[in-house]
Amino acid sequence: MNRRDFIVSSPALVSALPLLSARAVKGRTAQVICTWNNPRAAEAAMAKYAGDGSALDMVEAGAKVPESDAGDTSVGYGGLPDQSGRVTLDACIMDHEMNCGAVCYVQGYAHPISIARAVMERTDHVMLAGAGAEAFAKKHAFARKRLITKNAKQALKEWKRNQVQGNNHDTIGVLGRDMNGRIAGACSTSGRAYKLPGRVGDSPIIGAGLYVDGAVGAAAATGMGEHIQTVLGSFVVVEMMRQGKSPDEACAMAVDRVISAFPDSPEQAAFVALSRDGVYGAHARLAGFTVCIAGDEGIEVYDANYTEANR
Ligand code: GLY
Repeated sequence: MNRRDFIVSSPALVSALPLLSARAVKGRTAQVICTWNNPRAAEAAMAKYAGDGSALDMVEAGAKVPESDAGDTSVGYGGLPDQSGRVTLDACIMDHEMNCGAVCYVQGYAHPISIARAVMERTDHVMLAGAGAEAFAKKHAFARKRLITKNAKQALKEWKRNQVQGNNHDTIGVLGRDMNGRIAGACSTSGRAYKLPGRVGDSPIIGAGLYVDGAVGAAAATGMGEHIQTVLGSFVVVEMMRQGKSPDEACAMAVDRVISAFPDSPEQAAFVALSRDGVYGAHARLAGFTVCIAGDEGIEVYDANYTEANR
């Protein structure tokens, strides 16, 4: 981490945090780390922590925040659509014992992360896709939601006019450690904006968008899904930690794998990690990746270290 900005993005946020003082977290440990500037996601995860919730409860609660946020154009409601105008969602979740669940290409449901958790807890499968995942969600009475917003429709129209692809990889990855020292992770996205219909990225794929091994630690990814899934990036991070690398070093090594595989790409790929002891780390291919951490003493946003200057 090269800069430490104690964030208080809004006074309302902090006053809503009776358990978190307005002091920076000391040292290198945290209860929660999440991708991007998502203090409300961290706050929701910490609220579960404070209520003695499980690490799974923490990360699910965290991921649900951007899933509900119309202003977040790459996760859940408000996510930018594929080329045919459909918003399709991918998510996965994993716990300390390597139990995991995932859904991909889900349409019309508000919280894919909760459906993924139900796949994990109520079936003996790991992943359900498309219509099958939607039928499962219906059977288990998950809340339906029309996911496309006016802004997203307008953005698609503009994209069709000039085909300019902005940076839209703001996948939420949340890693948490509960009061019993158990860790879990969640990852949720609407994927690349204006993707081909049917495209699924890294986020719902165990080992790519997310990986957790309670004996070692957890990792989550954001950025170009095709790159991250090619190198199975989150798995790489956890395996590097298993070999003794720090979370920061492990994330940097996964970024190196992406760069080796896609040396000429201008696309972002970034990782966050949390060791089983609560030591956190992050690293990005390019500048501009922020991570949010939370602990007993507050919530902070950092600019992560990165390997390449932006092109
Ligand atoms: N990392 C999210 C995606 O590419 O779908």
